[in-house]
Amino acid sequence: MLSAAATMPVWSDEPRPNPNPCKEGDEGLFEITNRDGRARLGKLHTKHGILETPTLLPVINPNIRTIEPREMWDRYGIGALITNSYIIWKHDTLKEKAIADGVHELIDYPGVIMTDSGTFQSYIYGDVEVGVEEIVEFQRSIGVDIATMLDVFSRPDMKHSEVKSAVDETIERSPISVETSQDTMLNGPIQGGLFPDLRRKSASEMAKFDFSVHPIGGIVPVMEQQRYREYAKIMMSTLPFLPSNRPVHMFGCGHPMLFPMSIALGADLFDSAAYALFARDGRILSPWGTEKLEGLMEWPIMMPCISGVTPELVRKMPKDERMKLLAKYNLEITLAELARCRQAVRDGNIWRLVEQRSHQHPALRDAFLWLSTNPATASFTKFVSNEIPLDETTASKDYSSLGSFEDSWQWVVNSQLTPRKGGEQWGGVDTINRPHIIAAKNFLAQRWHQRDVIGIGSETVMIFHGDSGPWRDKCDKVVAKLLHLVPGIEILVSTPIGLMPYSLEDLNPFCHVEGPDWIWKNKLDMVIVTQELESLGLGGRSIIPIELRADNLESRVFEKIIDAGLTIDCEFEDGMMVIGSDEDFKLARLQLNRLKAADKFAVLFNIDHATAHELSANLTFVINKYGRIKNVLSSSGNHLSSFRLGDGGLSLSNAGAIELFSRRRRPLPTQFCATDINPYSGEGLAIIVVDSDAEPFVRKGRNVFHGFTIASDPWLRPGEACLICNESGELIGHGVSQCTANEVSVMKKGVAVKTRDGIKFEE
Ligand code: GUN
Repeated sequence: MLSAAATMPVWSDEPRPNPNPCKEGDEGLFEITNRDGRARLGKLHTKHGILETPTLLPVINPNIRTIEPREMWDRYGIGALITNSYIIWKHDTLKEKAIADGVHELIDYPGVIMTDSGTFQSYIYGDVEVGVEEIVEFQRSIGVDIATMLDVFSRPDMKHSEVKSAVDETIERSPISVETSQDTMLNGPIQGGLFPDLRRKSASEMAKFDFSVHPIGGIVPVMEQQRYREYAKIMMSTLPFLPSNRPVHMFGCGHPMLFPMSIALGADLFDSAAYALFARDGRILSPWGTEKLEGLMEWPIMMPCISGVTPELVRKMPKDERMKLLAKYNLEITLAELARCRQAVRDGNIWRLVEQRSHQHPALRDAFLWLSTNPATASFTKFVSNEIPLDETTASKDYSSLGSFEDSWQWVVNSQLTPRKGGEQWGGVDTINRPHIIAAKNFLAQRWHQRDVIGIGSETVMIFHGDSGPWRDKCDKVVAKLLHLVPGIEILVSTPIGLMPYSLEDLNPFCHVEGPDWIWKNKLDMVIVTQELESLGLGGRSIIPIELRADNLESRVFEKIIDAGLTIDCEFEDGMMVIGSDEDFKLARLQLNRLKAADKFAVLFNIDHATAHELSANLTFVINKYGRIKNVLSSSGNHLSSFRLGDGGLSLSNAGAIELFSRRRRPLPTQFCATDINPYSGEGLAIIVVDSDAEPFVRKGRNVFHGFTIASDPWLRPGEACLICNESGELIGHGVSQCTANEVSVMKKGVAVKTRDGIKFEE
């Protein structure tokens, strides 16, 4: 079914119908409908419509209207805006009308209205004279959809002790603010200035109150001073500590340049007066920065509102008309960039967009490089094995030692979807630091293991290099023979994003990196190769490099093996290794297929090495007309799993799910898990337990919805296969998780698992 956003005409002159309220009981719930790592598309359920996120809430000054709120609704399809309750409260006429008719009537807008509380005015002008309860009560009384408590602003130039007071005071004001708001959704702003420990504290403590949305406060001066690295640090020290079922709002962020990075790190809402303020100064916002109307001969981007007019004509317009047109132009550009970001999330490209946009401004590039290449974040072999028990609250923690940027980066990496369909577009050195590539490499480092064959070759690795895939037509035959003759050897392929075991030769993203030919032809860099071998548990082995572009692959392999001093028991005829009868060769091919299956089960189903090899020992295969494995069959002929052609992944069948479930060693989970930064390598597919209401639906193959779940393993991750059990510990289905362990513990709406199939009682 198409979503409202997809069916809504964009920028149409037709009046738009008023929104329908959300379903009763859903008010305040936030669901995730699509994701790319931490970037998420969501729906916030309100009385004035279901707000699709990420979205921008334009700031409306009730006294000065640059673009009419009604036009924002009708023409631009804007679902929510923000205005200031303190300004309304201070002006008698506005206040009276708001109390009498409600805020929607006051500003003539039918969608979601968020109001701010006066905190920002206190930052600009000093104290405000309104009380903590009074301003929340006022917002409630005028019928706003999302009110804001009176938080205490923390500036970037403040000392630690000053910021701490702002954070503590905001926390102290929270219980009474939440109580006063009653049924009205309330913003719980996060303060903390530039101090990561105080941001963590603010997030962890504010999370304990019943807020509906968490704005990140105190960032306006950080953005004004273009301290984007600090902005990224603030996000990284805050977002992992907020409940993932509440939208995150970047207070005062409306510059399109910051949208991709913010969204990739988990931001859902933006608000800004920038479109109007910049227009007043004759400035244009764009995804690559700010430009002046003065001196402009051509528009940086064509947008509907400036069709038919040149910058020259706009300069000559009367001031008011010019300002209004530029405000519309800024708004259109801003909305277009947000739409681009949402589409990138759907397409799985948000980090690519962050990468591209990072080149638009030195400060943005600095922030991007800090995120992606900071030594603390760049390691891809980190293995966290400690389990954080659920009851360990953060209340007593010392916030300076709780979490680190490295953990926050893992929080980003562990939510990435991998493998994905399609080629990986090479983008220079940044490519290797993309979070989903790091996630894929983590899988290899943590879940793939060398074969435990002792004997000839077991001190050796052969590395194919110099050519792009697919490699199987060229190499499968020789690899099958080689593994038969030199059983201990490990065979790897060098790709522009790192080494990959040959057995995983069709696994995305390694198998298909799109770029100029030379990224594949590059000579092996022995420093990198050594590091990578180390991370794959193959450190210290002698290396036999094999160039793939040259002719006579098999004879060269043979020669190199002999040169390496490995004795192999075979004849060599017509450039071919003769390994015995046809039957022997068939068996060698079968063994290679079994290795491919075992390694995929280990890497993609998180099966420990010994189990994967035991399971694969008697497997047989259905091979498609191109010679690729299609189905994996057990010794009794049961179809366990299919090899996916699009991304090199595995799809599980019911028999496969039953088989893997029967091999589970750990007790089933009985509770949710507070953390989702734990790979638990070798523990098998994560299990999610659902309640008895959901069981009959899951058994019929229906999706698992949040709100019907009871427990999960901590290593549940989006995009990965998982098993579904009932409360008695029986397997009732399997599917692909849409969420992390932390998310399933708090989300109340939306799909938790896309069920692939249900297990019927008789199975
Ligand atoms: N608008 C911009 N920044 C802030 C902030 O920190 N708090 C509130 N309440 N409003 C803001």
